[in-house]
Amino acid sequence: MKLQTRELLDKVKAAEEELEKINKDPWRLKFHLMPPVGWINDPNGLCQMNGIYHVFFQYSPLEAAGGIKFWGHYTSSDLLEWNYEGVTLVPDQEFDRDGIYSGSSFIENDQMHIFYTGNVKEEGDHDYVRKGRGAATIYVKYQENTVLISKAPVLRNEDYPEHYSCHIRDPKVWKEDNQYFMVLGGRTLDDEGRVLVYTSKDLKQWKLCNELKTKETFGYMWECPDLFEIDGQNLLSISPQGLIRENFRFQNIYQSGYFYLDGDFRSDYQLRDFEEWDYGFDFYAPQTFLDEKGRRIIIGWMGMSDSDLEYQNPTIENGWQHALTMLREISMKDGQIFQTPVKEYLELRDELIEVENKTKIRNLETFELEVKQGGIEDLEFIFSEGLVLKYNVQEELFSMEFINELGAGRTIRKVKIKSLKSLHMFVDTSSIELFLNDGEKVLTTRYYNSSTENTIQFVAGTAEINIWKMKNMT
Ligand code: FRU
Repeated sequence: MKLQTRELLDKVKAAEEELEKINKDPWRLKFHLMPPVGWINDPNGLCQMNGIYHVFFQYSPLEAAGGIKFWGHYTSSDLLEWNYEGVTLVPDQEFDRDGIYSGSSFIENDQMHIFYTGNVKEEGDHDYVRKGRGAATIYVKYQENTVLISKAPVLRNEDYPEHYSCHIRDPKVWKEDNQYFMVLGGRTLDDEGRVLVYTSKDLKQWKLCNELKTKETFGYMWECPDLFEIDGQNLLSISPQGLIRENFRFQNIYQSGYFYLDGDFRSDYQLRDFEEWDYGFDFYAPQTFLDEKGRRIIIGWMGMSDSDLEYQNPTIENGWQHALTMLREISMKDGQIFQTPVKEYLELRDELIEVENKTKIRNLETFELEVKQGGIEDLEFIFSEGLVLKYNVQEELFSMEFINELGAGRTIRKVKIKSLKSLHMFVDTSSIELFLNDGEKVLTTRYYNSSTENTIQFVAGTAEINIWKMKNMT
């Protein structure tokens, strides 16, 4: 093992032993993936291999406020109990010395092939949008149990098209019609976000096959692309940066969502109807994968870029920050996309609480809540005295509004929805995921209660309400 690799691994080990403050943190989650210590961002390399689910992630174990990126690794056989497997990719080479950035995995013949972006920052280069910062696409081959066989660049800065800046990253690889394909997110020299499509016959030699773009400029950079089919319809998922905030859309600093891609992504295609994956405060850089049951599952980073200074998470003081969302299954009905938590989570249902309207329910920590109503009535409830969740029939508007410090700087998010018939909510200590109308629209947020006791009080509406406390997974 290289000396540098050993040194980095020793540092990670030392950081991961510093658990005292973290273990005492009341905001640690019970059924979500979090960084063991330090910082987490994008989910990476999602796959299932011989029954075992793998979730890799952008991991900065050395700094809770974000720092040099490694890939951390979790595995699970049932999507409920997860094992932390340590750091599998370490920034120990010239071509990834400033971080193992995001990427994907691809399984074939019992082997895991991983693709990621090796980040290289040139010293003294302030104009880093132009040439001068390296971004190589690195190919890693693993045997079962993620034993590393090789790690080498397959595309380097000089291989990317001339009209692109050095912002090209986040390879997602798949196989179709006996060929391998890779999408990479990018920023042109004219500050337009686009996706590059590469193709290969052997996973090593890649050639440019197409460039995916919108007719009008749609942000200056597209991160974390993903291209997949659902019910015969191709979707292109991206995390665009640089969109202008609107009243009911694009409310965060950066977005993530999908275009319907009609035609052939290899040649003539059209991108239409961009839809956001999530309308809450904390959701970015999602990735999807197909599991062995054939489900298309999406996981997002339950956080937002550190350049969003609107809010600060108090967990930093306790040595960690951010988490990944629940696993959500994607489906399509009448041309519309829905997201619902994978059914495995229902196994966590414990005691059912009878709810009478207008009474305050106390003593909740992690719980699942289901509201059903006719869709013709206003609905309003207050969560932990600081978060107002409201549906206004006339305005066809659902809002999530923090009215005090519970939101740690978060304010209000709104989404248009015609007729709210159901609401499904999962609360995990300091996170909320809300699925409206069976996942037609989703809102995710973190919140920080001074005690672990949550309350719920319905103040308007005559809905039918069920609450289940959830079994403890930690
Ligand atoms: C998205 C992102 C990716 C990049 C990674 C670095 O959040 O900026 O584009 O690969 O994070 O951590």
